[in-house]
Amino acid sequence: MYKLIILLFFHYFAIVAVSADISVVDDNFCVIREPVLKLFSYNFTSLTSTKYILNDEFFNATIRLQLCSPLKEKCNGKDGYAVCLTKNKEEKGIGKMRPKVNIKNGTIMFVFTGDDCTAGTKYTVNIIMKCDYEAENNSHPELFSHTLELCNIYMMWKTALACGPRIKQNCTVTHNGLHYDLSPLTKYSQNYVVHTGNRTSSKIILNICHSVIFEHNALCQSHSGACLQSSTGIEYVNLGDVQNPPFITNGALRLEYQDGDLCKVRDITVPHIKTSIFFICDFEALDTVPEYTGGSEECHYRIMWKTAAACSVESLRNHSTATAGKCTVTNPLTNFTYDLRPLMNKNSYTIAKNGTEYKFRVCDSLVNLCPGTGVCRINSHTSMGKANTDLMWEEGGPYLNYTDGDVCKTGQRRYTIIAFVCGAEGSPDGPLIMEQNDCQLIIHWNTNLVCGNRVKCVTDDDEINLSSLIKSTNNYVVKVNKTEFYINICRPLISVSGITCAHGSAVCKTSLSSDNEYVNETSLGFPKESPVLNKNHETVLRYVDGSPCPENPKKLISSNFTFPCYNNDKGFPEFKKYEDCTYIFEWKTSITCGATMGNWTSPCIIKDQLLSHECNLSLLHKNEKIYYVKNKQGKEYSISICGEKSCNGSSVCQGNNGYGSLTNVIFDYGRNVIKLQYSNGSKCGNKNNSYTSEVRFICNESIGIGTPKLLWESSCSAEFEWYTNVTCNCQSSSQQSTAFSNVQDDVRDFSPSHTGAVAGIVLSVIALVAALLYFRDPNKRACLRSCINPFSSRRGSGRVQYCRVNTTEEARLLLDVDPTQCQTDSDDDLLNA
Ligand SMILES: *[C@@H]1O[C@H](CO)[C@@H](O)[C@H](O)[C@H]1NC(C)=O
Ligand SMILES: *[C@@H]1O[C@H](CO)[C@@H](O)[C@H](O)[C@H]1NC(C)=O
Ligand SMILES: *[C@@H]1O[C@H](CO)[C@@H](O)[C@H](O)[C@H]1NC(C)=O
Ligand SMILES: *[C@@H]1O[C@H](CO)[C@@H](O)[C@H](O)[C@H]1NC(C)=O
Ligand SMILES: *[C@@H]1O[C@H](CO)[C@@H](O)[C@H](O)[C@H]1NC(C)=O
Ligand SMILES: *[C@@H]1O[C@H](CO)[C@@H](O)[C@H](O)[C@H]1NC(C)=O
Ligand SMILES: *[C@@H]1O[C@H](CO)[C@@H](O)[C@H](O)[C@H]1NC(C)=O
Ligand SMILES: *[C@@H]1O[C@H](CO)[C@@H](O)[C@H](O)[C@H]1NC(C)=O
Ligand SMILES: *[C@@H]1O[C@H](CO)[C@@H](O)[C@H](O)[C@H]1NC(C)=O
Ligand SMILES: *[C@@H]1O[C@H](CO)[C@@H](O)[C@H](O)[C@H]1NC(C)=O
Ligand SMILES: *[C@@H]1O[C@H](CO)[C@@H](O)[C@H](O)[C@H]1NC(C)=O
Ligand SMILES: *[C@@H]1O[C@H](CO)[C@@H](O)[C@H](O)[C@H]1NC(C)=O
Repeated sequence: MYKLIILLFFHYFAIVAVSADISVVDDNFCVIREPVLKLFSYNFTSLTSTKYILNDEFFNATIRLQLCSPLKEKCNGKDGYAVCLTKNKEEKGIGKMRPKVNIKNGTIMFVFTGDDCTAGTKYTVNIIMKCDYEAENNSHPELFSHTLELCNIYMMWKTALACGPRIKQNCTVTHNGLHYDLSPLTKYSQNYVVHTGNRTSSKIILNICHSVIFEHNALCQSHSGACLQSSTGIEYVNLGDVQNPPFITNGALRLEYQDGDLCKVRDITVPHIKTSIFFICDFEALDTVPEYTGGSEECHYRIMWKTAAACSVESLRNHSTATAGKCTVTNPLTNFTYDLRPLMNKNSYTIAKNGTEYKFRVCDSLVNLCPGTGVCRINSHTSMGKANTDLMWEEGGPYLNYTDGDVCKTGQRRYTIIAFVCGAEGSPDGPLIMEQNDCQLIIHWNTNLVCGNRVKCVTDDDEINLSSLIKSTNNYVVKVNKTEFYINICRPLISVSGITCAHGSAVCKTSLSSDNEYVNETSLGFPKESPVLNKNHETVLRYVDGSPCPENPKKLISSNFTFPCYNNDKGFPEFKKYEDCTYIFEWKTSITCGATMGNWTSPCIIKDQLLSHECNLSLLHKNEKIYYVKNKQGKEYSISICGEKSCNGSSVCQGNNGYGSLTNVIFDYGRNVIKLQYSNGSKCGNKNNSYTSEVRFICNESIGIGTPKLLWESSCSAEFEWYTNVTCNCQSSSQQSTAFSNVQDDVRDFSPSHTGAVAGIVLSVIALVAALLYFRDPNKRACLRSCINPFSSRRGSGRVQYCRVNTTEEARLLLDVDPTQCQTDSDDDLLNA
């Protein structure tokens, strides 16, 4: 009865094995044949022509680097180097031509060896080339800056040249006059990972409207939109190609990847594997990840994804307009509030293009020239539109539409769009005319005010999601004697009067003076990094770059939260200690416990095997014996979780069709749902399929017993969602909270898992590094944005500003570098001078 239905049929893996780990290096080492699929070559030669100067402010060192040919200028008086470090006006050749090329498991790395670092150890410079389709031509390497103190230096270079061929599909649908756009979900440098079972099970690697990014741990075929990585990590099955845009069926948004590898499951007549992604619009579902809901046994993988991105653009705009304020608007996909009021109180701005000058104000009217209008063409005193404060949301950034200006040639009234964009790092702030004609003016305004300072609150492999701990109306407060800590998770603090830590801090420490006033406020760091799994498989969230550290003014205070799995519901933070300029907190919570199997006992009690939570579901039937749920076409399902079974002994029925008997009870603490899975129902269709169903319970204290709702259905399965207070009262049979963090790896037996996250060697953690680059450092985000921003071409191409990966611990962890190596005089020299 407790056998997982999510069985995966490993025997049909169409082998795209990784055994061919030979680096195929052409005479020109910058042209590399991809050794797994053997279908294409990487060609980095165009990275030759530029010299990259990395300037590290912290160590005050400069690195000159050229990838494919030696540096033109000498290094320390000698030729033949590719990487040259300058420190205190002293040059060191840390990388000589030519490098060794390592191309293994989808990771491309150039390893340069240089002069002596210490007696007996030479410098090495490891440059990892990482695919990013959105990286521009003038992309540049990023240094793991804290490896600079070591003999072994690491860099990451994100470039489109490290990508294979791809397939991209239109990601929009128009249906009944509504527009849907899933493109915010498309990833260009990383994939989604969907767990199919426990940590030893295989994983689905997924992208949306775009083929899977071919990279480390994702050696999928280049047209594949979803592929399955076997539990051994070395075989890949294509679960379907990117062929068609999403579509609407039965009022629901769906994306299908078809024509995957051959289906080798016995008795299944479909020739090829396919994958369907069922999208469910939910305005509250931000930061969510896709979820596997079965189907491998039918060669039809089903993935469900509740996300705001699946709501129509119109409804999202209404949603954001409904909450918009004066010159503020909230991005409905991220809940980030764009607040342009700081631009309001200034005087007017003047801009010009092709000799025509305009004056305008933001969210406010002009006073002297063309009074009452928002934009005025100066020479002719023409109104280009009246001012308003209705900031509108758009995927690319918020905008104002000043309408109702003077009449233009076509007889229409002139209007002006002022679109605010998050500019590239270092690009000047300010307005710029993008387009002008007699009837219309389009202004783009580069400003940091619209750069959402948000980190993804999910570990990189989409396993542990801390989003449910994010507070949006108040903060967590931890009191220790006269000290109070104000805390939020993955987000800046909610403003509290009297608390004046630097804006954007995630933790603020304050003391109560004898007159009960807050004094000595100290920022304990900013939310710049996503949570990670440490070596002990614990979830760790770090906040960095807080106030200066009193003991060591060169350092900034940081804080560090660990989230051990405990039978403790959401839990609460506890202050543990302060050491080495770091405040350490512990947060015992069940949300990091992932998902565990539960047991069913008569008459209708479910019990979790890991945390011993127990729920009596009989309460669901206190008032009603059977619940009826209709779909849009009027098809009626009946649901009786505990009561008598009406059709072939099934709990879920539709007409005479039984939708299966109970197969799994899953307590998914990560998603805060309890799932009852039913399978082996009546025969469905003329194939050998049978009906399956799932009912998921979500605790909501204020809703009473609640009723089930249809979440989605396909021809042979249906899934229901039931918000209820019945599952809120799950009693723990053991009264005391017990620690599970030390045993969870053994007990945990359903997803999410911890596979490979901290495998220790460089090659196994590239994806994690990618996440560092993506989410941790705002500079990094700015760099990334530069790639997609129309202004970025203004950046110099030769001398490139560089972004530092500021993640010492992670980098070390990732790189498995022994930080104690290389601690010699010459190295101290390098560090302390
Ligand atoms: C690699 O790219 C360079 C410059 O873009 C080009 O000149 C060269 O022919 C390419 N080499 C191969 C083998 O494709
Ligand atoms: C960095 O080094 C240069 C010379 O190499 C020196 O002029 C500059 O003051 C140094 N900057 C800092 C912040 O130490
Ligand atoms: C996608 O298709 C729609 C209609 O078929 C079209 O209007 C839109 O421009 C297309 N988008 C892209 C990015 O190709
Ligand atoms: C490639 O990855 C697989 C699975 O993660 C691993 O077993 C193998 O050792 C890796 N190969 C190399 C050369 O790192
Ligand atoms: C978005 O933020 C607002 C206020 O900041 C909060 O009330 C709302 O619950 C948040 N929505 C989500 C989905 O987090
Ligand atoms: C620039 O202005 C001149 C005259 O004012 C006009 O003829 C020309 O078309 C304009 N050019 C552009 C690109 O708008
Ligand atoms: C701005 O307003 C004008 C006039 O009402 C309208 O034609 C135009 O479509 C609007 N533009 C946007 C992007 O909302
Ligand atoms: C709080 O006060 C107690 C008793 O004075 C002391 O032992 C403890 O160390 C204090 N805690 C902190 C975090 O300062
Ligand atoms: C505030 O900081 C000052 C200087 O460090 C210290 O003397 C004072 O006791 C602190 N006040 C409180 C209430 O902690
Ligand atoms: C968090 O703090 C603990 C205890 O000092 C330390 O061992 C760990 O490395 C820190 N983690 C991070 C990510 O900084
Ligand atoms: C749940 O069922 C399994 C298998 O039947 C059994 O081994 C386990 O002891 C049960 N757990 C509890 C908590 O009853
Ligand atoms: C993981 O699930 C598979 C079945 O999908 C099972 O055979 C295996 O024992 C499970 N492993 C663990 C560690 O629970």
